[in-house]
Amino acid sequence: NKFATILAGGGGSRFWPLSRQEMPKQLLNISGNDIMLNDTIARYEGIIPLENTIVVTNQSQAELLQKIMHNSVPKSNILVEPIARNTAASILFAALFIEKTYGDSIMVVLPSDHYITDEVQFKKTLDEACLVAMESNQIVTIGIKPTFASTGYGYISFENLPVMTSPCAVYDVAEFVEKPNFQKAQGYLASGHYLWNSGIFIWKTSVIIENFKRYLPRLFKTMQPLSTYLGTEQEAEMINAIYPTLQSISIDYGILERCDEVVVVAGDFGWNDIGSWDALGAIFPPDELGNIVKANHLGIDTRNSIVYGNGRLITTIGIDGLIIADTEDALLICPKDKAQSVKDMVTLLKEKG
Ligand code: GDD
Ligand code: MG
Repeated sequence: NKFATILAGGGGSRFWPLSRQEMPKQLLNISGNDIMLNDTIARYEGIIPLENTIVVTNQSQAELLQKIMHNSVPKSNILVEPIARNTAASILFAALFIEKTYGDSIMVVLPSDHYITDEVQFKKTLDEACLVAMESNQIVTIGIKPTFASTGYGYISFENLPVMTSPCAVYDVAEFVEKPNFQKAQGYLASGHYLWNSGIFIWKTSVIIENFKRYLPRLFKTMQPLSTYLGTEQEAEMINAIYPTLQSISIDYGILERCDEVVVVAGDFGWNDIGSWDALGAIFPPDELGNIVKANHLGIDTRNSIVYGNGRLITTIGIDGLIIADTEDALLICPKDKAQSVKDMVTLLKEKG
């Protein structure tokens, strides 16, 4: 039995002002194809039955999500968190749900903010990763060859010799480092011995639950009673009582960095995390002046900029390397190299009420 668990409860705050708490980036159609959540689901068709999809989302997004999500996903598989407690909590919630409803199963965890260009190769890699997870009691992650010294990703150093080579190379993981500083990231990139963590994980539910017991015992103990109430009338009440008390930590810091039993399947399928405005370059090729324009825009001497509009005319003169994102009620202007700081603006706005 294979189940996909999609993490779709993040705020997507680095995509403000397009992305909002009630309308986060996973529910936006950024690529022009479909909303990111539905693209995520369509991508594993043929490898995991679409009705075996579990989506973990946030209360503030659940209603809209139900309306626009791929209709082959059963509504009873939408797990709603009353408050965001980061990815470890979401994953444990889904693992307990799968184990209780369907028994020990292969669980594939997928973030909902990825853009992938080679879907055929992606399916091959995912299929292989599922086989590895089925045959072992290890955590399996899909690794991507890094192309720049990103400080926004996890890095995986792998043993020299692959444990398997066909159809994909599978390596034992020596070390997992989540979001290193720039200097470290540069070193990892130069060494040629690190892969990026794609954030796509594959394991048996029994295996990840054991890892929670071992590495996040406090989170496990607080969450575990929920298992008894899943599918009963008290379910919602229990979730609301338990969630605010949960430890807030990502799976990467909480388990991946601490666990020794990790293997990585090297993937090469045109992977991008559409985390912030500057990532639009992965979806839309820039024009001859280096601009990516999704707007009613007229520019004079405008270069290397991202202009995203809402219909009204945007004009620019003599700018270079800016992000301009216009929506009905808010406008963002910032240099491209400050794209990661957009989340600080969202924090500031929240403080200001
Ligand atoms: N349900 C739910 N609840 N989903 C969440 C929550 C939560 O509290 N927090 C985040 N998510 C979802 C996001 O919507 C996203 O789809 C996914 O979980 C990953 O969260 P991000 O916030 O996007 O993580 P990241 O990109 O900073 O880092 C992770 O992904 C990188 C690759 O994209 C890590 O796994 C890194 O190691 C990895 O390199
Ligand atoms: Mg991400």
